[in-house]
Amino acid sequence: MAIYYQEQKKIFELHTKNSTYLIGVTPEGYVGHIYYGERLWKEADNYLLRMAEIPFTPSVNKREKSSFLDSFPMEYPTGGIGDYRESCLNVRNGKGQMGSELFYLSHEIYRGKKKLEGLPASFGSEGEVETLEIVLEDQILGMRAVLSYSVFEKEDVIARSVRIVNGGQEGLRLEKVFSACLDMDNEDFEMINLCGSWARERHIQKGVVRYGKQAVSSLRGESSHQEHPFMALVTPGTDQRQGRVYAMHFVYSGNFLAQTELTQYDSVRMVMGIHGEEFSWDLAPGEAFQAPEVILTYSGEGLGKMSRSFHDFYRKHMIRSVYNHRKRPILINNWEATYFEFDNEKLLQIAREAKKCGIEMLVMDDGWFGKRNFDDNSLGDWFVNEKKIKGGLKKLVDEVNGIGLEFGIWFEPEMISPDSDLYRAHPDWAFKIEGREGTMCRNQYVLDLSRADVVDYVYEAVAKILRGANIRYVKWDMNRQLSDMGSVRMEAGRHQELFHRYVLGLYELQERLVTEFPELLLENCSGGGARFDPGMLYYSPQIWCSDDTDAVERLIIQEGTGLIYPLSTMGAHVSDCPNHIVGRVTPFETRGHVALAGSFGYELDITKISEADRGMIQGQTEMYHKYNDLVREGDYYRIASYRENHKFDAWAVASRDKREVLVTYVQVLAEPNKHSRKLHLQGFEADAMYRLEGTEQVYSGEMLMYAGFLIEPMQGDFVSRLYHFVREDA
Ligand code: GLA
Repeated sequence: MAIYYQEQKKIFELHTKNSTYLIGVTPEGYVGHIYYGERLWKEADNYLLRMAEIPFTPSVNKREKSSFLDSFPMEYPTGGIGDYRESCLNVRNGKGQMGSELFYLSHEIYRGKKKLEGLPASFGSEGEVETLEIVLEDQILGMRAVLSYSVFEKEDVIARSVRIVNGGQEGLRLEKVFSACLDMDNEDFEMINLCGSWARERHIQKGVVRYGKQAVSSLRGESSHQEHPFMALVTPGTDQRQGRVYAMHFVYSGNFLAQTELTQYDSVRMVMGIHGEEFSWDLAPGEAFQAPEVILTYSGEGLGKMSRSFHDFYRKHMIRSVYNHRKRPILINNWEATYFEFDNEKLLQIAREAKKCGIEMLVMDDGWFGKRNFDDNSLGDWFVNEKKIKGGLKKLVDEVNGIGLEFGIWFEPEMISPDSDLYRAHPDWAFKIEGREGTMCRNQYVLDLSRADVVDYVYEAVAKILRGANIRYVKWDMNRQLSDMGSVRMEAGRHQELFHRYVLGLYELQERLVTEFPELLLENCSGGGARFDPGMLYYSPQIWCSDDTDAVERLIIQEGTGLIYPLSTMGAHVSDCPNHIVGRVTPFETRGHVALAGSFGYELDITKISEADRGMIQGQTEMYHKYNDLVREGDYYRIASYRENHKFDAWAVASRDKREVLVTYVQVLAEPNKHSRKLHLQGFEADAMYRLEGTEQVYSGEMLMYAGFLIEPMQGDFVSRLYHFVREDA
């Protein structure tokens, strides 16, 4: 049993393999946080709720109730009644007064986990997950909050979410409904986040936690290039192998807030949820609001263990696609090859050449529909441009299939160009504030997905294309952030619901898509990696990581992404040089080694690249087939970080049974007059012997891990090597 309730002491014990989470209920019914951390084995106690300390609980010391509320470690703090730290729930009653107070009402413990209505969420069988639901009540408002904790023992994960139910007589306005809170005492915590921009997404950032509030957030309507819905608090000195790590990751693709607050009493409050700014939700009597899920994990063995817990968890309990554990076809995408300038003949030339080198799928990117030859028109007009694709889409797909390649296609379904037939027919389908000209971004507006008729149109437009030809893959793009949040269908006074309603519309669209086309390989994308989040993984097993395909920049992006996401989820392509974004020239081999750490493909004009580069593709596709099972399913170890040392990068993937380990090493900058570099590898069985493939060298796992492995000096910048170790008895 992962969850245990001590009736007498009123303590909920939640246990995973390596962690314990304790919740206590005070005599008045406040639900408080006792502990999260290393696994505890003996019956727990609740003295950490400090109820016997000044200011005491309100039943003993009513006159200082606010001091109590402002310091008690709350599981789910509410705003308006005297806890001045960040609240998780702000509710206004019918008169517009903000305040609520939640007390324990009941609880339920059951095996398995319920679905979250309309939202992506983790799942597991009755043998894999156990759930605790604590029902809290505000009697004055007639409102209930159901706190849900699903314990995934094996992966050391607790998935948290909250449902607010209006059981009262009057309408309530929810102005903030966060999904999780963690009140802990400060341990000189440092905070880790992922930050960046277009073409340099998810760079790891670390800093000390100071008094006051520190947050990462998005108000852009998507989880964003800039900041990521992830936050980890770590003890000083935490590295890949040691240190305590408390991490939260949000299963949501829209506005979010992830915040840490260091208080006057040296306690830390970490919260995560839909951003309270530009959010409110009117809850009529009898209605419920479901907040998205937060994935919580604790590691007592540093960041490496945290990464592997997230990876295992997402592969097993978040990604539903049939491709999750399947080798994905090696694709070639024509975006960087042709941009908008292509026709069927050009695509067929690429396909023919690609086939010769072992590539398995052709993806036709932006520019095949409406009259689109540039980015200023036709989004919304999802019918093929027969001037470019002569004879129609089905003919092209059949011809590509005839060459021996599968076919994939690009869409940007959530958008509308002002210069499109769709916009001319339905100008009110775009978000717009009455009387104000909408702000354009990449020449386009955003469709109002809060409307069922718009969602229906968009779905049918995409599905019709997919039904008409043998299309095996869709790249679902989204190339601008949201603004001008006005909808002609929204009641006055409720426009702050739009951001969330948009995300719900998006989820509905993708749910319909994966239901009608279960065998479709869906890759999400947003101007590169602006919507790389666990919510999207529920629909697509891979997400385009970044528009930046430069091998060196990708080291940093993929290190940050790999910190929490399985390698198999990262869309990674070999592109041409000089790189289209940074202008850097790196060896073709290195580009291949870096892309191998993701869902592998190409993004270049294979008919135009040099003979020498083209000649390497066959070897790379063979390398992909050889290593993909390992990369996709294995345990990931970060060995060295170019981001930190500015010289070289290294990572390893070990098979679950530790029979083989693949180490990738990239020398970013050559250094003169140096010995071979010693790396402490990870992922081996200490007492097993491993042969380095292609040599006669045999090493013990313990030597490789504790004493080190020597990387011979290499000539040149940006050069890389793979080292494949195979256990002697394998
Ligand atoms: C976005 C994507 C690119 C490409 C273009 C097409 O930027 O990230 O890969 O599909 O759109 O317009």
